[in-house]
Amino acid sequence: MCGIVGYIGEKQAKPILNEGLLRLEYRGYDSAGIATIEKDGIKNIKNKGRVNALFEVNGIDALQGTVGIAHTRWATHGKPCSVNSHPHMDNSKTFAVVHNGIIENYADLRDFLKSRHYEFFSETDTEVIPNLIHYYYNHSDNTTSSTSEKKFLQAVTDACKMLKGSYAIAVLCSDYPDNMIVVRQDSPLVIGKGNKENYISSDIPAILPFTKEFYFLNDKEFALLTKESIMFYDENLQTIQKKIHTITWDSGSVEKDGYPDFMLKEIFEQPKSVKATIGNKFQKSKTMIGDLNLSKAYLSSINKIFIVACGTAMHAGLAGKNLLENLCQIPSEVDVASEFRYRDPIINNQTLCIFISQSGETADTIAALKLAKAKGSKTIAISNVIGSSITREADYTIYTYAGPEIAVASTKAYTSQITLLAILAIYFAEILEIHQDKIEELKTDIQLLPKKIETILKNTSQIENFAKKIHKEKDIFFIGRGIDETVALEGSLKLKEISYIHSEAYPSGELKHGPIALVENGITVVSIMTNRLLLEKSISNVQEVVTRGAKTFIITNQDMNYDFDEVIMIPKTNTLISPILSVIPLQLLAYYIAKEKNLDVDKPRNLAKSVTVE
Ligand code: F6R
Repeated sequence: MCGIVGYIGEKQAKPILNEGLLRLEYRGYDSAGIATIEKDGIKNIKNKGRVNALFEVNGIDALQGTVGIAHTRWATHGKPCSVNSHPHMDNSKTFAVVHNGIIENYADLRDFLKSRHYEFFSETDTEVIPNLIHYYYNHSDNTTSSTSEKKFLQAVTDACKMLKGSYAIAVLCSDYPDNMIVVRQDSPLVIGKGNKENYISSDIPAILPFTKEFYFLNDKEFALLTKESIMFYDENLQTIQKKIHTITWDSGSVEKDGYPDFMLKEIFEQPKSVKATIGNKFQKSKTMIGDLNLSKAYLSSINKIFIVACGTAMHAGLAGKNLLENLCQIPSEVDVASEFRYRDPIINNQTLCIFISQSGETADTIAALKLAKAKGSKTIAISNVIGSSITREADYTIYTYAGPEIAVASTKAYTSQITLLAILAIYFAEILEIHQDKIEELKTDIQLLPKKIETILKNTSQIENFAKKIHKEKDIFFIGRGIDETVALEGSLKLKEISYIHSEAYPSGELKHGPIALVENGITVVSIMTNRLLLEKSISNVQEVVTRGAKTFIITNQDMNYDFDEVIMIPKTNTLISPILSVIPLQLLAYYIAKEKNLDVDKPRNLAKSVTVE
């Protein structure tokens, strides 16, 4: 939530920051701003609305500076408007700050500063930061030489010691026009190294076209950047050494590549992302997942697995539960991260906790992981982003190889996450030496998935036509039994978030216990039926809604002789991994409905890609 980007080098900063902001827009898009260091001090320009609106503001063309920071906002404190947009400056206009996160004690800090004659102009929590830096710059008994950029650094570290909450911050100071300082605490920030230029950003894709060399900051680590150097410090200003990471993502992966939207591109990338996630994990003798190395003694001692995540990642976790229970016979529970933290879950060294996060930056998921660790559980993170915060907290990290996911609505991450969970369940079962026969068949089915996804993607017109028929509807139901219900949940979420149509997902058998009261003439019911054993019962449930006048959209891999309105046939596969196939028509249905309604599918209202606040 909120995206920050910065550049320090020899080129004009503005076009680079503009490009970075456009790539970060998926993190928030209610207002944007840019500050550059010009000959006569810091120039700060901001505007309400999307990034493109910022670049239409009078005076923006005059920005020539080669050092700058920029921000795209997802409002928390203070409504979206120009004054509340970042960058924020101190009263003397010496410091400019962009911030992602929430300063929880901002009210106290405001009072502290107001009593020292500082004035505030915005409703934001952020505005305390530049003023606090200014306060320490002028008032602390700073023993550091006043001519050294260390004075700037000292003021930033002093100010940060006062902040409670989460923050990724980039700071400019007009007295040190060749420097930029960044720091993070529980909010994402990466530093990109270039040749006589350096970059900072909330995430890798925003600056991937400029560099593939990245540093990842840990909490409370500060970086002092010039165009030629990056020095790292802890909060006591002791220098620290950081490892540089080369990112293998192709910079083309952050372009639309001829597709009208990232979401459609990402839906069509699923054969590739599932294939990359399978990689060469199925070795002849055993399944190998990165450097995951769990013993039979340890796995045999586990009596409960918790899978914890948010949104779509949590829906992938539901498929993971089925896989783990079925193949490994270990009771597994799925929790929404924001609930898990506060329900005092029973965790000890006999529980294993798996945390799933595409971005690796979701605040609730990271906090849940910290809790599980503190209670003595081993933790495994499943993430799509190398070096993301979650990967640095977990005991073990295993990666999906979906490539950057830019559209706010998650698609390829979901199918890659289930693929990886299936491989993880196989890995456990092999170590535990159970279900060897099932496992071999499942491995074959997993390897056939990319081709089967391709088959589904070859024929989208039936789904597109149905979307045209139903795009004006107000409510849509999604139903399924067993594993199909978990896909119903995901289909319903996709539809809600990008088409703004209200929808509900229910276990098919549960409809008649209440929700069927809402089924009336003309309503659409989407039913997923991929389990042969549950087919007859599922069909009966669909008949119950047809009788009440519902239109039906069926996704199945079973032959059926019924006159339903629309039946999408998908290839057969093992039921345990069927969500990887059955979700695809649902992703397309949501996509085509949103397009028919002329909505911005990549940036749905009120949402942000990476939810870094609780
Ligand atoms: C829905 C969606 C969200 C995310 C959720 C978790 O399409 O994208 O529900 O799945 O915010 O995000 P990550 O996986 O980054 O932790």
